[in-house]
Amino acid sequence: MEIEKKDILKKLDGAIFRAISEESDRLNVDTYVVGGYVRDIFLRRPSKDIDFVCVGSGIALAEAVADRLKRRKSLAVFKNFGTAQIKYRNTEIEFVGARKESYDRNSRKPIVEDGTLTDDLSRRDFTINALAIKVNRDGFGELIDLFDGLGDMDSLLLRTPLDPDVTFSDDPLRMLRAIRFASQLGFFIEAETFEAIERNRERLKIISEERIVDELNKIILSPAPSVGFELLEQTGLLPLILPELSALKGVETREGVGHKDNFSHSLKVLDNLARTSDNLWLRWAALLHDIGKPRSKRFDPKLGWTFHGHEMMGAKMLKGIFNRLKLPKNEHLKYVEKLVSLHMRPIALSDDEVTDSAIRRLLFDAGDNIDDLMLLCEADITSKNPEKVRQFLKNFAIVREKMKEIEEKDRVRNFQPPVDGQEIMEMFGLAPSPIVGELKTVIKDAILDGLIPNEYEAAHQLLLDIAKDKGLSVKNA
Ligand code: CTP
Repeated sequence: MEIEKKDILKKLDGAIFRAISEESDRLNVDTYVVGGYVRDIFLRRPSKDIDFVCVGSGIALAEAVADRLKRRKSLAVFKNFGTAQIKYRNTEIEFVGARKESYDRNSRKPIVEDGTLTDDLSRRDFTINALAIKVNRDGFGELIDLFDGLGDMDSLLLRTPLDPDVTFSDDPLRMLRAIRFASQLGFFIEAETFEAIERNRERLKIISEERIVDELNKIILSPAPSVGFELLEQTGLLPLILPELSALKGVETREGVGHKDNFSHSLKVLDNLARTSDNLWLRWAALLHDIGKPRSKRFDPKLGWTFHGHEMMGAKMLKGIFNRLKLPKNEHLKYVEKLVSLHMRPIALSDDEVTDSAIRRLLFDAGDNIDDLMLLCEADITSKNPEKVRQFLKNFAIVREKMKEIEEKDRVRNFQPPVDGQEIMEMFGLAPSPIVGELKTVIKDAILDGLIPNEYEAAHQLLLDIAKDKGLSVKNA
């Protein structure tokens, strides 16, 4: 590891470390910075939150440090867990007493007992997260590496400090953390650790959806999320979390005709998108854009494999997935539904002569999400044929250009029909009824089809014309 002592000391500078060092000496406890903060010094990654372990009461140390930093108000104590937190500027500082920890097998509720630093470090998840740096004045900056975490950092290995069956049984979420770190940091899961994940996978069932989703989101936000999802599939965890995605795996062949493996395709789309957007929900849409395919798959002797309507089927399946994973069912669900249901539209447009009307309808349906939709569709081009890719991208560029022209001219993105339901009711003396909706749709369609401009006068005139045809009498023109 090419990190010098001075680089470590640089990361232990500042009011927080001074206060903790001096208060630890005063209380006569040995204190160490541990976990992600230490790991990230060696990986040269920025990190904000800092975890401290002291051999003694973490809560008493936290109280002393909070007083000293004048942060009593931000001190949060969790007596049951023996931990405490202080917020200092933008940093969360967490304190815990060193412990020998074992968990109740079925609830994950820890049975906490005081322990030594060695006990504490050996109960952590991976060797790279089990490094500690002393912060007492005597030995300040000294690195404790009991499990060759530095060696594993060099070989990019994720390995548990103890027998992996014990580490994963203590907290099955760690199986997902292994995969998340592999995806996020570009590390590899050591063979025995990997096999233990396969063996213990069913234990994930005792973990809450919220914690699972936290890790899933981090995998999705990693530089090449396919790494994480391939590992989830290989370890057998994916069918437990997202069976709809696992179901995309495989290729069926009939009469010598196969279709593409929609699992690898979906991961490729997600990786492509990860290069153009950090938007978590757009990345979710990329991951799930084809989940409707298994249910809409048909074999036609003339056409081969078809997946008609898979985008609508997929959009319909999302609510169930969001429910099960306890993902937020607010605007995020609507957004992902919208992108999944519309993801075939721009491709369809780029196939034919693009008409203004089709572009207007797409702009209207996608509204503010049109740019994200185009990113998704561009990411969806995974053909291995460079000529095909070039052609698709060229067509998309034409669609984008046309959209710009039409939007400038007609402003249909987010448009509200220039005549609203209230006005229609007043014009014809109508009570709220289906006919009001029908009249509104006629106006909307006329604008989107380019029959009338997106203006009040034209819409009003069209209403009067229709009224005549339908025999509606005008009460208030
Ligand atoms: N830890 C653990 N088992 C877990 C979670 C955490 O052993 N299930 C330990 C690890 O030593 C970890 C430390 O607690 O480094 C802090 O955990 P956390 O803040 O959740 O993760 P970080 O490792 O800091 O990484 P990140 O911030 O990326 O989640």
